[in-house]
Amino acid sequence: MTTLFKSAALALLMFTAASFAEEAPYTVTNEHELDAETYKGFKLYRNWCARCHGTYGQGMVGPNLADSLNVISKEEFFSVVENGKSGTIGSMPAWAANPKVMEGREQLYRYLKARADGAIGEVKPRKAK
Ligand code: HEC
Repeated sequence: MTTLFKSAALALLMFTAASFAEEAPYTVTNEHELDAETYKGFKLYRNWCARCHGTYGQGMVGPNLADSLNVISKEEFFSVVENGKSGTIGSMPAWAANPKVMEGREQLYRYLKARADGAIGEVKPRKAK
């Protein structure tokens, strides 16, 4: 890579990071302290999703959700959670009949978006004071 290209890439990265920071639906401090809504998302994730998608969303039976949330839209996320998904990786159950998950989709999204942006380290998050 030429130096010019490197600095252009770096500028782009910083620009992207800055625009993410403005739109981020979560607040994470010290890589593990979450705002109340995002923390709710973490608890829901731990209860219902972690056994297939891994403690940190890194993937197990189910795909790496940190990667996925950089690719799929919020609408797709909401739809997959509601209806489930069967594809090349395996089968994901639908959550339409689970009110806790259905009502918590926004919080789940916030939490996983924070994971996708690398805002939370590979540690157990806690609620910010
Ligand atoms: C029983 C295991 C299992 C559980 C529990 C589970 N998933 Fe999944 N999930 C999967 C599998 C397997 C796939 C991949 C389906 C495919 O495309 O082959 C998947 C796919 C997804 C996708 C789509 C990813 C993409 O890139 O298309 C999302 C989003 C998702 N899961 C979110 C969740 C959330 C949120 C929860 C908790 C409410 C959850 N999953 C619970 C197994 C599971």
